[in-house]
Amino acid sequence: MNDVKGYRGQLLHFTGEPKPTDKRSPTNKKDGDDHYVYHEDGVLLVSGSGHVVAADSAEALAAEGLDLTRCEHFPGHLIMPGMVDTHIHYPQTGVIASYGEQLIDWLNQYTFPEEQRFADLEFAASQAEQFLNLLMDHGTTTAMVYTTVHPQSTEAFFSAAQQRGARMIAGKVMMDRNAPPAFLDTPKSSELDCRQLIERWHGTDRLHYALTPRFAPTSTAEQLAVAGTLLREYEGLYLQTHISENKAEMAWVAELFPDARDYLDVYDRYGLLNERSVLGHGIYLNDRERQRLAETGARVAFCPTSNLFLGSGLLDRRALADAGVDVCLATDVGGGTSFSMLRTLSEAYKVMQLQHQSLHPLEALYWVTLGNARSLGLDHRIGNFAKGKEADFIVLDLNADALQGYRQSRAVTLSEKLFALMTLGDRHNVVQTYLMGHRQAGYQTVKGDAR
Ligand code: GUN
Ligand code: ZN
Repeated sequence: MNDVKGYRGQLLHFTGEPKPTDKRSPTNKKDGDDHYVYHEDGVLLVSGSGHVVAADSAEALAAEGLDLTRCEHFPGHLIMPGMVDTHIHYPQTGVIASYGEQLIDWLNQYTFPEEQRFADLEFAASQAEQFLNLLMDHGTTTAMVYTTVHPQSTEAFFSAAQQRGARMIAGKVMMDRNAPPAFLDTPKSSELDCRQLIERWHGTDRLHYALTPRFAPTSTAEQLAVAGTLLREYEGLYLQTHISENKAEMAWVAELFPDARDYLDVYDRYGLLNERSVLGHGIYLNDRERQRLAETGARVAFCPTSNLFLGSGLLDRRALADAGVDVCLATDVGGGTSFSMLRTLSEAYKVMQLQHQSLHPLEALYWVTLGNARSLGLDHRIGNFAKGKEADFIVLDLNADALQGYRQSRAVTLSEKLFALMTLGDRHNVVQTYLMGHRQAGYQTVKGDAR
């Protein structure tokens, strides 16, 4: 047991989806139900191989013989599982916060020119490194990532993630029409490129491959059929794409695929829907589409900062949930405006408020950890501190600035503290990020004896 390391602080993780009894009141002292574990003074024990050995109160572990003085101590800090982002574009870091346009013009003016730079492997490699630093900085340890149409951009991303030991899902964008010609693949070339990338990376270390047809307007029927064939052929592949984000996009899809019943049917016809399919946005889905999503198990990634920034619209999460559709949460950087899943929660809360829906802080923190891990079928490996799981975790300072320090001092219950964290917090709260017990660079140093 000599190679076991201990991390001591306030420990929080989830064992299931909390169903707080009083969603309207985070000050309710009951704090919902028992699907979360919280120790005011807790210890996370991590083996030399980077797996969780135990997560319990300091008192209980000391009684079993643990020497608490040998633990790394984060007094006043919250230790929780690393956060999971289910939809993000690594090549769009350089165009985040680009002014003035909605989806189609934003793609043409900013995004496509930027993504073309990723033909250069060296540039792609430097961007992949920076992107992973940013993820770690923001407390995100797993993400489902779009690269560009260039297989070398995907290579660069997987290589960088492998070196760091991160659990990541990614894939080469497939797009064979309606973009600058130099920037297009073909059904055949995309098939060959995807096969090579799948064989090289899918299941290598902690990496997984996602077929990534960008969205219906940029793929021909022939290319979507290639994606369907590959999805059936290789076990455990993911699929990611966009759907029903913007009204002009929807009208365009109806024109391009006049025989399809609706937008979802375009993907359905080519066999792209299963429980490992993650469809970004889904703001304007109809009843039939919701029902079909529930039947197939395909997920919708809710991207609130992007939907607000690009003026796309408000996702009706309740309608999707009521239909039995799984909704995961994502940043969608660079349409999204922050790498922070805390900020993303804060914007999700506001989008839901505008529709008289709510998001309890316990559900919220579950969502960005175990919830998103479940949506990606990775909850047997990550998402909480169950024994044997991979120890991807973060250390958060709840008092990262004067305002948060003051608001936290006024908070009574755990839920109230967590609600202040998700509403006011961001990357500045993330003090340390660990991948399988290995501390990552790029975080702030821990302040002395923070409260
Ligand atoms: N639809 C097709 N491509 C994209 C993209 O890069 N970002 C967003 N938000 N929507 C898209
Ligand atoms: Zn996107």
